[in-house]
Amino acid sequence: MPLKILLTSDHQLMPMTAANLQKVAETIGKVDAVFVAGDLINIPDRASEWFDDYRGRGFFPCLQGRAFSELEKEGIKTVYKGGELIQYAPLFPAIGNHEIMGRFATNTKLDEQFNDPFPRKIAEKIYDRTAATLNPTRDAAVRKKWLKNNTFNSDTYDEIFNIPGGKNYYAATFGDVRLVTLYITNIWRTPNLDPGARGRYRERDEDFNYPEKWGYGQHIFEPIVKGGEQYNWLQQELNSSEFQQAKYKIVMFHHPPHSLGDNIVPAYTDPVQTVDRTENGEIKMVRYEYPKERDYIIRDVVPLLEKAGVQLVFYGHSHLWNRFVSESGMHFLESSNVGNSYGAFMGKKRRFVPPAFQEEYTAVGDPNGLEPVVPNVAPLLGEDDRPLPYIESNDITAFSIFDTGKGTVSSYYFDTRKPDSSVVMFDEFKLKN
Ligand SMILES: [Fe+2]
Repeated sequence: MPLKILLTSDHQLMPMTAANLQKVAETIGKVDAVFVAGDLINIPDRASEWFDDYRGRGFFPCLQGRAFSELEKEGIKTVYKGGELIQYAPLFPAIGNHEIMGRFATNTKLDEQFNDPFPRKIAEKIYDRTAATLNPTRDAAVRKKWLKNNTFNSDTYDEIFNIPGGKNYYAATFGDVRLVTLYITNIWRTPNLDPGARGRYRERDEDFNYPEKWGYGQHIFEPIVKGGEQYNWLQQELNSSEFQQAKYKIVMFHHPPHSLGDNIVPAYTDPVQTVDRTENGEIKMVRYEYPKERDYIIRDVVPLLEKAGVQLVFYGHSHLWNRFVSESGMHFLESSNVGNSYGAFMGKKRRFVPPAFQEEYTAVGDPNGLEPVVPNVAPLLGEDDRPLPYIESNDITAFSIFDTGKGTVSSYYFDTRKPDSSVVMFDEFKLKN
């Protein structure tokens, strides 16, 4: 039976989310499944974000047609109720950085906890140094709890979705589709280089002598290193008959492998820390670099997927629509334009990259070398009337539908400045099989 699958992500209670999902229901009717490539909400331990946000933008209500989200554009107020979707269709999520809570032990407010995940390896070192005091009887449960409270966790997300296998990566067969979902996401930190920035490239001046206060750059939550647990699982899955016999092989995760967006820089790899000291041994800077040749997604994951015949890699994180095709014909789609766009960096528009750092940080285009595909039906036009290979708008929202009958991925946009306007199908591509 042919299925229509909604490809969406980064809802995060954004103002356009309810409008986006309402237009899905109005345009497509009932979809058969919803694939969400991460960042469902902003702060996972705030229950209202999932269930009953005061602005009517809760995650589930938006997907049930029970939202009451007011959007004001150019003086016109429209209330959107979202789409009646998940009453009839299963939802398959991938975990994003917004599904993870940080340190519970050192923060009392949800926002602070969210922004303060701590790398597990460093926490283990601290723990082992102080275990004699913290846990004199060496109780394993005490250690586990301490590490969770002093690092990060995805408890709420796990409790809501009950992911099979108890990991945040899984595979599922749905009709003709084998969906493989990976745990590929890191903490987002500011690119700011100010003395007070606990960022992706540096620590705060005031924290230099307190390593327990450091942010450790954009550290990765769950390794996908070659030979590691997740990588081995992926290899096994790609060799399974469920995967190999599936007509459509789709891989979904949060972090972009190819994008014009902001969040693809720096590379997806473990931050390399450098501590600069004065002659007296005092710390004068703690900084982080991200060697591009060590990007786990590009170096290790994508070649595996290419070899296994994956037709579509679907992701989010930068809040824009854009797509790419590799030489072998594997498609890459980032379909997450529900607003709060971080922009598309092409032409004169440059990403912020740290000056005088050693590694390569790409200011323009896809850092991983693919050219974006211009939508082939009705692209938006730029200021010079040339077709744009992306949608980066906070007014125009986009969604994509995979039709397993036709093997096509169709993308649609809706201009929220014109509430009575029609939804426009602007791009369509076919997965090969
Ligand atoms: Fe994200």
